[in-house]
Amino acid sequence: MQAIDRNTLTDAVIASFAGAHDPRLKEVLGALVRHLHAFAREVELRPEEWRAGIAFLTAAAAMTDDRRNEFVLTSDILGLTSLTDLLQGVPGATERSVLGPFHAEGSPEVAVGADLIRGNTGQPVLVVGRVLDLAGQPVRGATIDFWQTNALGHYWQQDPSQSPDNLRFRMRLGDDGGYAFTTVRPAPYTVPYDGPVGGLLRASGRHAWRPAHFHFRVLAEGYAPLTTELFPADDPYIDQDAVFGVRASLAVPFAKCDSPEEAARYRLPNPFERVEFDFRMSPAR
Ligand code: BEZ
Ligand code: FE
Repeated sequence: MQAIDRNTLTDAVIASFAGAHDPRLKEVLGALVRHLHAFAREVELRPEEWRAGIAFLTAAAAMTDDRRNEFVLTSDILGLTSLTDLLQGVPGATERSVLGPFHAEGSPEVAVGADLIRGNTGQPVLVVGRVLDLAGQPVRGATIDFWQTNALGHYWQQDPSQSPDNLRFRMRLGDDGGYAFTTVRPAPYTVPYDGPVGGLLRASGRHAWRPAHFHFRVLAEGYAPLTTELFPADDPYIDQDAVFGVRASLAVPFAKCDSPEEAARYRLPNPFERVEFDFRMSPAR
């Protein structure tokens, strides 16, 4: 029988995983235990604080279902989701950012140049660019999955007045890797804060706002899937995203554009706002 005391406990727990069949599982669990114990030792964690932590997780579980995941939100507001995105970064490739809870399969298939504005009110925006590899060559046969809020900061899932097909699409690109679409400028919005995560934000004097953004998921055969976001550089929350998703390279100008030719080509009122961004894909691992 091992004698467990405060000096031997951590090593004993780590050793208990020595027989893990998967060496990576053994490595991850060992490091998790080491850091968890170091955290408890550093703050001299009290039993009532441990119980508050367990109560938080219990409340998160009670709130979690297919449509709402309070654990992912916890990871988001603690910066863990963003850290895993940043750790996957490849030099020269577009930086990654959070998927968020509003991605849905089955977006309408549209052609390059699609108009998403239709019945939506708001500032018209033309979004154009290309999907390129790390050498700057077009990626052939890429698809873009796109979703955003309307100009009031609501996704279709949050707003019964919007059609389920509103402000989202799936676009298959041609051999030149070029994409283009017209839409309305999205608005900042809050992450859900009516659950335990909201309580944590309030107790910490933090707000729940995200800057406005476009979501993109870019897929192409032979390339690592790219989930990312673009943000208007002039958004009031650009430096205080509740989920730490903003990267300097993803904060882009929504430039005022006065171009009667481009306005006519995309059936936009002139002037309009214009965003240009090239995605850089890294090879699949
Ligand atoms: C979003 O961008 O939709 C989002 C991301 C993280 C948490 C909540 C919402
Ligand atoms: Fe979002």
